[in-house]
Amino acid sequence: MRGLACQNGAMKRASIVVLTGAGLSAESGVPTFRDKGGIWAQYDYREVATPEGFARNPVRLHEFYNLRRKAHADVRANAAHHALATLEREHAGDVWVVTQNVDALHEEAGSRNLIHMHGELFRALCGACGTSVSCHEDLSLAATCRACGEQGFMRPDVVWFGEMPYHMERIAELLAAADLFISIGTSGNVYPAAGFVAEARAAGAHTVELNLEPSEGQPLFAEAVYGRATEIVPAYVAKLLSES
Ligand code: NAD
Ligand code: APR
Repeated sequence: MRGLACQNGAMKRASIVVLTGAGLSAESGVPTFRDKGGIWAQYDYREVATPEGFARNPVRLHEFYNLRRKAHADVRANAAHHALATLEREHAGDVWVVTQNVDALHEEAGSRNLIHMHGELFRALCGACGTSVSCHEDLSLAATCRACGEQGFMRPDVVWFGEMPYHMERIAELLAAADLFISIGTSGNVYPAAGFVAEARAAGAHTVELNLEPSEGQPLFAEAVYGRATEIVPAYVAKLLSES
């Protein structure tokens, strides 16, 4: 197992993959999905996070994402986002963040090696030509695609239940080459993200869960630290950097 034996500086060039979920942004004031009072306690995911829901009631779905965009207006990256950006800057080996989150807080903290597997809240996708454009304003059915000029086909560029996530081939490559896989702030409820820990283990990576409480995937992790992300993530990053 390509563990993190730190003899002869193995940690120095370790390739690190970090999976993040809604729990990473919780302390920035962004509600998670399945915690008490989470998004799926307020909305039926079938109405606002499935293609069928969009076809049935696009106005309701657009309202849901317009509200989420507005709610992000004064939300800031927290110490956990910043710690991951520091890890990418200061660790000698490759560091990649694969996020399930659709917010832009990793970018705000300075992460560059970043993959949004569920899309991005501040981007819109044209159902007619497939072009993705940045989107900071309210979306509605009346919206016209800036690329093809078609009207009535714009949707949030967010991956819904039943759809394939983005960049899965690139993510598989990263997991196959990882020496260290860290999962932060995700309940391990939704696949394929919930399966990444098994892929990383099979590739010989050391696996770590940093979360408020044990996730569904907890038994698969070689190491775990439980607590609030803004406390445990900076501490874990400091430990990694002191060893490399
Ligand atoms: P899935 O089978 O991966 O996950 C289904 C999830 O739906 C379950 O894990 C459960 O947590 C959730 N669920 C079921 N009933 C629910 C309820 N009543 N309230 C709240 N949540 C409920 O889903 P899938 O259809 O296979 O997803 C395919 C892809 O879409 C996956 O990559 C997934 O990560 C992605 N996705 C994206 C979003 C988003 O908002 N960006 C939402 C869901 C799924
Ligand atoms: N610090 C660390 N972890 C936290 C914190 C915190 N302050 N607050 C909550 N958590 C943890 C919870 O314990 C939970 O395990 O974050 C996790 C949040 O889980 P979910 O709400 O299920 O969010 P997530 O795992 O990102 O959901 C996965 O499901 O609905 C889809 O596409 C959506 O990307 C989302 C996917």
